[in-house]
Amino acid sequence: MTVKHFLTVSAFAVLAFPVIASAQAHDASIANHQPHYYDATEFGIDPDSLTFTKDIEPILQRSCQNCHNPYGGAPMPLVSYDQVQPWASVIKDRTAIRDRMGAMPPFYAEKDIGISRFKDDYSLSDEELAVIQAWIDNGTPRGNPADSPEPLEFDISDVWKLGEPDLVLRGPDFTTPAIGPDWWGDLGLVPTGLTEDRYVKSIQIREINDIPADGDIATVGGRYIFHHLNYSSGVIDENGVYTQDPTSGRWPIHEVGRNADIFPEKAGRLLAANSALRLFGTHMHSNGRETTGHLEFGFSFFPVGYEPEYSRRGPLTGNGIDIDVAANRANQEVHNYVVLQDHTKIIAFEPHLHAPGVRMCLEAIWGHNQFTLTCVGYDHNWVKQYVFEDDAAPLLPKGTILHAVGFMDTTKANPNLADSRNWSGGGRRSVTNMFIDLGYSVRLTEEQFQAEMAIRRANMKDKNEYDVGCPLCWAPEITGQNLAQGDQ
Ligand code: HEC
Repeated sequence: MTVKHFLTVSAFAVLAFPVIASAQAHDASIANHQPHYYDATEFGIDPDSLTFTKDIEPILQRSCQNCHNPYGGAPMPLVSYDQVQPWASVIKDRTAIRDRMGAMPPFYAEKDIGISRFKDDYSLSDEELAVIQAWIDNGTPRGNPADSPEPLEFDISDVWKLGEPDLVLRGPDFTTPAIGPDWWGDLGLVPTGLTEDRYVKSIQIREINDIPADGDIATVGGRYIFHHLNYSSGVIDENGVYTQDPTSGRWPIHEVGRNADIFPEKAGRLLAANSALRLFGTHMHSNGRETTGHLEFGFSFFPVGYEPEYSRRGPLTGNGIDIDVAANRANQEVHNYVVLQDHTKIIAFEPHLHAPGVRMCLEAIWGHNQFTLTCVGYDHNWVKQYVFEDDAAPLLPKGTILHAVGFMDTTKANPNLADSRNWSGGGRRSVTNMFIDLGYSVRLTEEQFQAEMAIRRANMKDKNEYDVGCPLCWAPEITGQNLAQGDQ
């Protein structure tokens, strides 16, 4: 009896599946991911004309050599022809993954859906993919050395990527043994020494340790001991008691490989007089060599007297608790909805899932309409924040329903998974799950919202141009007259 019942249910499941798939219209499974191959001639490119020095080197300089240089975090340098040529077929495969787990460069925003303009976007365009593919299919011709662009200079030292900060704070030293269990804990307070309030324009964090920079290190994990660290800021009173600042509170997490954070011009963050950083939730990881290191926090400030126009908000949507992830199944979805209580400009999207995560989307529901703002692939080996270009960032009226969708794949095709046979729920460890947009947004007053929309409208050619992030950009202004008409 039980068996018969089970068979009936599974027969329904099979029948029902195509319906679910067509409603979703997107197969996020790793196993079915199709590489993106292009025909160079469709971009007006003669495949026979492509050479390393003329066509490939500029792409490598812009999108790869930041990491693939002799001192970078990537496994091999991709600078000279002799370094690149042996990797040609792997480069073709990894770049053609385009926007999903495993893609190179690791920037997974999907360009064919939603808003596609991000700051510091070093991903490859379809045309660049076509160039790489045609050059490789054509036997990787070297070309004329005179065509090479000026080589980039790579620095062995840990320079500040955004230039010298105004204030550098040093965390305490920590020593990890060559081999040992991971360590979690708090590293205490670091006084800022500030005697007046300052607003922060950007923050960069670097790990300084005693690993030789030019040592023979097989993996990027071998270069660092800080896996991640949370920190907040607050004021220390005359009794030495620390109180967390209610407005600035928590700062963006430090994680190995994470980029610097640059805050919007209108939303600088407060580092108060008499403040301190509180370093907590630190995760240290042994790397095969006894290592002593510390973090340096480099703050750049807005000028004295600066006041932010917009108030900033942290994560808006997600669910870290009620997550139910089945074993060995692709295309599992998790959903979360939140109603915006204020006009909101979304500055950055930062999908945060754990090992089963493969994709995350953000949608806005306004009136009868449902817009996809962005979808990005996800790889738990990379922590990526996607910062919208200022004039493309979502401008959402209060009352908008923000809808986040996470996609999970727990089949064996997912290389990040420890074991595809286990059910998992929500939790903090990588074998459990999270589903959060760690990005941030700002609250806008009615006036600020109208002013932002006016700038956006001025950039649009005519009313046929549609801005997916700005549902009210073309809305008629509400006047006494049309309000009355609407009432009829
Ligand atoms: C943000 C740093 C970063 C950028 C930018 C980057 N890579 Fe990588 N790359 C890595 C790291 C780290 C690995 C090793 C981990 C992995 O395989 O995912 C890697 C791995 C690879 C591999 C596989 C190596 C192997 O052992 O199989 C190839 C091929 C590759 N990258 C090519 C490229 C190309 C081509 C670009 C530019 C179009 C690029 N990468 C941009 C960091 C980067």
